[in-house]
Amino acid sequence: MASERKKGREIGFVPTMGALHAGHLSLVEIAAKQCDLVLASIFVNPTQFNDKKDLERYPRTIEEDKNLLRTVPCDAVFIPSVEEMYPKEENVSFDFGELEKVLEGKHRPGHFNGVAQVVRKFLLIVEPDKAFFGMKDMQQVMIIQELVMQMKIKTEVIPCPTLREADGLAMSSRNSLLNTEERKAAVLLSRLLLEAKQNYQKGISPKEIKEKVEKALSTNSIYKPDYFAICEKQNLKEINSFEKGREYIALIACYVGKIRLIDNLIL
Ligand code: PAJ
Repeated sequence: MASERKKGREIGFVPTMGALHAGHLSLVEIAAKQCDLVLASIFVNPTQFNDKKDLERYPRTIEEDKNLLRTVPCDAVFIPSVEEMYPKEENVSFDFGELEKVLEGKHRPGHFNGVAQVVRKFLLIVEPDKAFFGMKDMQQVMIIQELVMQMKIKTEVIPCPTLREADGLAMSSRNSLLNTEERKAAVLLSRLLLEAKQNYQKGISPKEIKEKVEKALSTNSIYKPDYFAICEKQNLKEINSFEKGREYIALIACYVGKIRLIDNLIL
Protein backbone atom coordinates (compact mmCIF):
# COMPACT_ATOMS: atom_id res chain seq x y z
CA MET A 1 0.00 0.00 0.00
CA ALA A 2 2.81 2.41 0.89
CA SER A 3 4.41 1.97 -2.56
CA GLU A 4 1.06 2.56 -4.25
CA ARG A 5 0.58 5.72 -2.22
CA LYS A 6 4.01 6.96 -3.34
CA LYS A 7 2.77 6.64 -6.91
CA GLY A 8 0.06 9.10 -5.93
CA ARG A 9 -2.73 6.56 -5.91
CA GLU A 10 -5.72 7.22 -3.66
CA ILE A 11 -6.44 4.33 -1.32
CA GLY A 12 -9.95 3.48 -0.15
CA PHE A 13 -10.56 1.26 2.86
CA VAL A 14 -13.64 -0.77 3.80
CA PRO A 15 -13.39 -2.41 7.24
CA THR A 16 -15.80 -5.28 7.93
CA MET A 17 -16.34 -8.17 10.29
CA GLY A 18 -17.10 -10.54 7.40
CA ALA A 19 -20.26 -12.58 6.75
CA LEU A 20 -20.43 -10.25 3.80
CA HIS A 21 -23.65 -9.24 2.10
CA ALA A 22 -24.63 -6.80 -0.62
CA GLY A 23 -24.49 -3.90 1.88
CA HIS A 24 -20.77 -4.50 2.46
CA LEU A 25 -20.18 -4.94 -1.25
CA SER A 26 -21.91 -1.62 -1.95
CA LEU A 27 -19.29 0.09 0.23
CA VAL A 28 -16.55 -1.48 -1.92
CA GLU A 29 -18.32 -0.27 -5.08
CA ILE A 30 -18.58 3.27 -3.71
CA ALA A 31 -14.91 3.15 -2.64
CA ALA A 32 -13.84 2.01 -6.13
CA LYS A 33 -15.65 4.96 -7.70
CA GLN A 34 -13.81 7.42 -5.47
CA CYS A 35 -10.35 5.80 -5.14
CA ASP A 36 -7.70 4.10 -7.31
CA LEU A 37 -7.23 1.12 -5.02
CA VAL A 38 -9.64 -0.52 -2.60
CA LEU A 39 -8.64 -2.55 0.43
CA ALA A 40 -11.21 -4.40 2.54
CA SER A 41 -10.59 -5.99 5.91
CA ILE A 42 -12.31 -8.89 7.61
CA PHE A 43 -11.85 -9.10 11.35
CA VAL A 44 -14.38 -10.09 14.00
CA ASN A 45 -13.16 -7.65 16.61
CA PRO A 46 -13.53 -9.22 20.08
CA THR A 47 -13.18 -5.93 21.99
CA GLN A 48 -16.41 -4.47 20.60
CA PHE A 49 -18.62 -7.37 21.73
CA ASN A 50 -20.07 -6.62 25.14
CA ASP A 51 -21.98 -9.92 24.98
CA LYS A 52 -19.76 -13.03 24.80
CA LYS A 53 -22.57 -15.13 23.32
CA ASP A 54 -22.98 -12.59 20.51
CA LEU A 55 -19.23 -12.91 19.73
CA GLU A 56 -19.38 -16.72 19.72
CA ARG A 57 -22.51 -16.73 17.62
CA TYR A 58 -21.27 -14.14 15.11
CA PRO A 59 -21.33 -15.71 11.62
CA ARG A 60 -17.92 -16.55 10.12
CA THR A 61 -17.93 -17.35 6.39
CA ILE A 62 -14.39 -16.48 5.31
CA GLU A 63 -14.23 -18.55 2.09
CA GLU A 64 -17.58 -17.21 0.86
CA ASP A 65 -16.45 -13.71 1.81
CA LYS A 66 -13.29 -14.00 -0.29
CA ASN A 67 -15.36 -15.23 -3.25
CA LEU A 68 -17.83 -12.36 -2.86
CA LEU A 69 -14.98 -9.84 -2.80
CA ARG A 70 -13.81 -11.25 -6.15
CA THR A 71 -17.13 -10.10 -7.67
CA VAL A 72 -16.48 -6.41 -6.86
CA PRO A 73 -13.60 -4.02 -7.55
CA CYS A 74 -11.68 -4.93 -4.40
CA ASP A 75 -7.89 -4.97 -4.91
CA ALA A 76 -6.82 -6.58 -1.66
CA VAL A 77 -8.24 -8.01 1.54
CA PHE A 78 -6.61 -7.89 4.94
CA ILE A 79 -7.61 -10.73 7.30
CA PRO A 80 -5.55 -10.36 10.47
CA SER A 81 -5.61 -12.69 13.47
CA VAL A 82 -6.62 -11.56 16.95
CA GLU A 83 -2.94 -11.89 18.05
CA GLU A 84 -1.84 -9.65 15.20
CA MET A 85 -4.33 -6.90 16.08
CA TYR A 86 -3.97 -7.32 19.86
CA PRO A 87 -0.46 -8.61 20.67
CA LYS A 88 -1.11 -7.70 24.30
CA GLU A 89 -4.19 -6.82 26.28
CA GLU A 90 -5.69 -3.65 24.91
CA ASN A 91 -6.33 -0.85 27.37
CA VAL A 92 -6.55 2.22 25.14
CA SER A 93 -9.67 4.11 26.06
CA PHE A 94 -11.41 7.01 24.39
CA ASP A 95 -13.73 9.80 25.46
CA PHE A 96 -16.48 10.48 22.97
CA GLY A 97 -18.58 12.48 25.43
CA GLU A 98 -22.37 12.34 25.18
CA LEU A 99 -22.26 10.53 21.83
CA GLU A 100 -21.05 7.28 23.43
CA LYS A 101 -23.52 7.49 26.31
CA VAL A 102 -26.74 7.26 24.29
CA LEU A 103 -28.51 4.62 22.15
CA GLU A 104 -26.00 1.86 21.23
CA GLY A 105 -23.47 3.30 23.66
CA LYS A 106 -25.96 3.08 26.53
CA HIS A 107 -27.22 -0.39 25.66
CA ARG A 108 -23.86 -1.92 24.72
CA PRO A 109 -21.36 -0.64 27.32
CA GLY A 110 -17.79 -0.59 25.98
CA HIS A 111 -18.94 -1.32 22.42
CA PHE A 112 -17.79 1.95 20.87
CA ASN A 113 -14.52 1.90 22.77
CA GLY A 114 -13.84 -1.47 21.14
CA VAL A 115 -14.85 -0.18 17.71
CA ALA A 116 -12.56 2.83 18.14
CA GLN A 117 -9.66 0.63 19.29
CA VAL A 118 -9.78 -1.52 16.20
CA VAL A 119 -10.60 1.21 13.67
CA ARG A 120 -7.75 3.36 15.01
CA LYS A 121 -5.33 0.45 14.54
CA PHE A 122 -6.61 -0.23 11.03
CA LEU A 123 -6.33 3.42 10.00
CA LEU A 124 -2.76 3.58 11.35
CA ILE A 125 -1.78 0.38 9.52
CA VAL A 126 -3.51 1.07 6.21
CA GLU A 127 -3.27 4.89 6.15
CA PRO A 128 -6.14 5.13 3.64
CA ASP A 129 -7.10 8.41 2.01
CA LYS A 130 -10.75 7.53 2.53
CA ALA A 131 -12.56 4.99 4.70
CA PHE A 132 -16.13 3.93 3.98
CA PHE A 133 -18.76 3.21 6.62
CA GLY A 134 -22.46 2.37 6.41
CA MET A 135 -25.11 4.73 7.72
CA LYS A 136 -26.97 1.66 8.96
CA ASP A 137 -24.63 2.12 11.94
CA MET A 138 -25.12 5.87 12.09
CA GLN A 139 -23.77 6.29 15.62
CA GLN A 140 -20.67 4.28 14.65
CA VAL A 141 -20.02 6.61 11.70
CA MET A 142 -20.23 9.60 14.04
CA ILE A 143 -17.94 7.95 16.61
CA ILE A 144 -15.37 7.28 13.88
CA GLN A 145 -15.60 10.87 12.61
CA GLU A 146 -14.90 11.98 16.19
CA LEU A 147 -12.02 9.45 16.52
CA VAL A 148 -10.36 10.68 13.34
CA MET A 149 -10.69 14.28 14.51
CA GLN A 150 -9.37 13.60 18.03
CA MET A 151 -6.42 11.47 16.84
CA LYS A 152 -5.57 13.83 13.94
CA ILE A 153 -5.81 10.92 11.52
CA LYS A 154 -5.79 12.18 7.92
CA THR A 155 -8.31 9.68 6.55
CA GLU A 156 -11.58 11.11 5.28
CA VAL A 157 -14.62 9.24 6.64
CA ILE A 158 -17.28 8.63 3.98
CA PRO A 159 -20.81 7.70 5.17
CA CYS A 160 -22.65 5.41 2.71
CA PRO A 161 -26.39 4.64 2.34
CA THR A 162 -28.08 1.57 3.86
CA LEU A 163 -28.84 -1.30 1.50
CA ARG A 164 -32.10 -3.12 2.17
CA GLU A 165 -33.73 -6.43 1.28
CA ALA A 166 -36.71 -6.27 -1.12
CA ASP A 167 -39.14 -6.08 1.83
CA GLY A 168 -37.24 -3.22 3.48
CA LEU A 169 -35.21 -5.10 6.13
CA ALA A 170 -31.79 -3.48 6.43
CA MET A 171 -29.11 -5.93 5.31
CA SER A 172 -27.03 -7.22 8.19
CA SER A 173 -24.70 -10.14 8.83
CA ARG A 174 -26.95 -11.02 11.78
CA ASN A 175 -29.96 -11.56 9.48
CA SER A 176 -28.51 -14.96 8.57
CA LEU A 177 -29.05 -16.01 12.20
CA LEU A 178 -32.82 -15.41 12.05
CA ASN A 179 -35.12 -18.41 11.64
CA THR A 180 -38.04 -18.25 9.19
CA GLU A 181 -40.48 -16.84 11.74
CA GLU A 182 -37.99 -14.27 13.02
CA ARG A 183 -37.03 -13.25 9.49
CA LYS A 184 -40.69 -12.55 8.72
CA ALA A 185 -41.13 -10.62 11.94
CA ALA A 186 -37.92 -8.58 11.42
CA VAL A 187 -39.45 -6.60 8.58
CA LEU A 188 -41.55 -4.68 11.10
CA LEU A 189 -38.51 -2.65 12.23
CA SER A 190 -38.02 -0.94 8.87
CA ARG A 191 -41.80 -0.57 8.43
CA LEU A 192 -42.05 1.21 11.77
CA LEU A 193 -39.26 3.58 10.79
CA LEU A 194 -41.04 4.36 7.54
CA GLU A 195 -44.30 4.91 9.40
CA ALA A 196 -42.49 7.18 11.84
CA LYS A 197 -41.25 9.25 8.91
CA GLN A 198 -44.76 9.50 7.46
CA ASN A 199 -46.14 10.50 10.85
CA TYR A 200 -43.41 13.13 11.22
CA GLN A 201 -44.42 14.53 7.82
CA LYS A 202 -48.06 14.65 9.02
CA GLY A 203 -47.00 16.79 11.98
CA ILE A 204 -47.43 14.15 14.70
CA SER A 205 -45.39 14.79 17.86
CA PRO A 206 -42.27 12.73 18.75
CA LYS A 207 -44.04 11.40 21.87
CA GLU A 208 -47.02 10.13 19.86
CA ILE A 209 -44.78 8.61 17.18
CA LYS A 210 -42.84 6.78 19.86
CA GLU A 211 -46.02 5.49 21.52
CA LYS A 212 -47.27 4.06 18.22
CA VAL A 213 -43.97 2.22 17.67
CA GLU A 214 -43.88 0.85 21.22
CA LYS A 215 -47.48 -0.32 20.90
CA ALA A 216 -46.78 -2.10 17.60
CA LEU A 217 -43.77 -3.90 19.12
CA SER A 218 -45.75 -5.01 22.18
CA THR A 219 -48.25 -7.00 20.07
CA ASN A 220 -45.86 -9.94 19.60
CA SER A 221 -43.53 -11.39 22.25
CA ILE A 222 -40.93 -12.16 19.57
CA TYR A 223 -39.89 -8.47 19.84
CA LYS A 224 -37.84 -7.23 22.76
CA PRO A 225 -37.11 -3.59 22.04
CA ASP A 226 -33.96 -1.96 23.43
CA TYR A 227 -34.96 1.50 22.22
CA PHE A 228 -36.82 3.54 19.67
CA ALA A 229 -35.68 7.16 19.68
CA ILE A 230 -36.16 10.29 17.64
CA CYS A 231 -32.99 12.32 17.74
CA GLU A 232 -31.39 15.37 16.29
CA LYS A 233 -29.39 14.06 13.33
CA GLN A 234 -26.38 16.23 14.08
CA ASN A 235 -25.63 14.90 17.58
CA LEU A 236 -28.09 12.02 18.23
CA LYS A 237 -29.65 13.83 21.21
CA GLU A 238 -33.16 12.55 21.82
CA ILE A 239 -35.80 15.26 21.37
CA ASN A 240 -39.32 15.87 22.67
CA SER A 241 -40.50 18.38 20.09
CA PHE A 242 -39.76 19.16 16.47
CA GLU A 243 -38.38 22.57 15.51
CA LYS A 244 -38.22 24.13 12.06
CA GLY A 245 -34.92 23.99 10.20
CA ARG A 246 -33.52 21.00 12.09
CA GLU A 247 -32.87 17.50 10.81
CA TYR A 248 -34.08 14.43 12.68
CA ILE A 249 -33.41 10.74 12.61
CA ALA A 250 -35.38 7.82 14.04
CA LEU A 251 -33.33 4.91 15.40
CA ILE A 252 -34.40 1.49 16.57
CA ALA A 253 -32.71 -1.44 18.30
CA CYS A 254 -34.78 -4.51 18.97
CA TYR A 255 -34.29 -8.19 19.62
CA VAL A 256 -36.21 -10.38 17.23
CA GLY A 257 -36.08 -13.69 19.05
CA LYS A 258 -32.47 -13.90 20.29
CA ILE A 259 -31.01 -11.71 17.56
CA ARG A 260 -30.49 -8.01 18.14
CA LEU A 261 -31.08 -5.84 15.08
CA ILE A 262 -30.62 -2.11 14.56
CA ASP A 263 -31.85 0.26 11.89
CA ASN A 264 -32.45 3.97 11.39
CA LEU A 265 -34.09 6.40 8.99
CA ILE A 266 -33.56 10.10 8.44
CA LEU A 267 -36.95 11.80 8.85
P1 PAJ B 1 -19.79 -4.85 10.00
O1 PAJ B 1 -21.02 -4.97 10.82
O2 PAJ B 1 -19.26 -6.04 9.28
O3 PAJ B 1 -20.05 -3.72 8.95
C1 PAJ B 1 -19.01 -3.29 8.10
C2 PAJ B 1 -19.49 -2.02 7.41
O4 PAJ B 1 -20.62 -2.32 6.58
C3 PAJ B 1 -19.95 -0.95 8.40
O5 PAJ B 1 -19.49 0.31 7.98
C4 PAJ B 1 -21.46 -1.06 8.33
O6 PAJ B 1 -22.13 0.13 8.68
C5 PAJ B 1 -21.65 -1.40 6.87
N1 PAJ B 1 -22.96 -2.00 6.61
C6 PAJ B 1 -23.57 -2.98 7.34
N2 PAJ B 1 -24.79 -3.22 6.85
C7 PAJ B 1 -24.98 -2.38 5.80
C8 PAJ B 1 -26.05 -2.13 4.88
N3 PAJ B 1 -27.18 -2.81 4.97
N4 PAJ B 1 -25.88 -1.18 3.93
C9 PAJ B 1 -24.73 -0.47 3.86
N5 PAJ B 1 -23.67 -0.66 4.69
C10 PAJ B 1 -23.80 -1.59 5.65
O7 PAJ B 1 -19.45 -2.27 11.48
C11 PAJ B 1 -18.61 -3.15 11.64
O8 PAJ B 1 -18.58 -4.32 10.90
C12 PAJ B 1 -17.49 -3.05 12.66
O9 PAJ B 1 -17.95 -2.31 13.76
C13 PAJ B 1 -16.19 -2.43 12.09
C14 PAJ B 1 -16.39 -1.00 11.63
C15 PAJ B 1 -15.64 -3.30 10.95
C16 PAJ B 1 -15.12 -2.40 13.22
O10 PAJ B 1 -14.89 -3.67 13.73
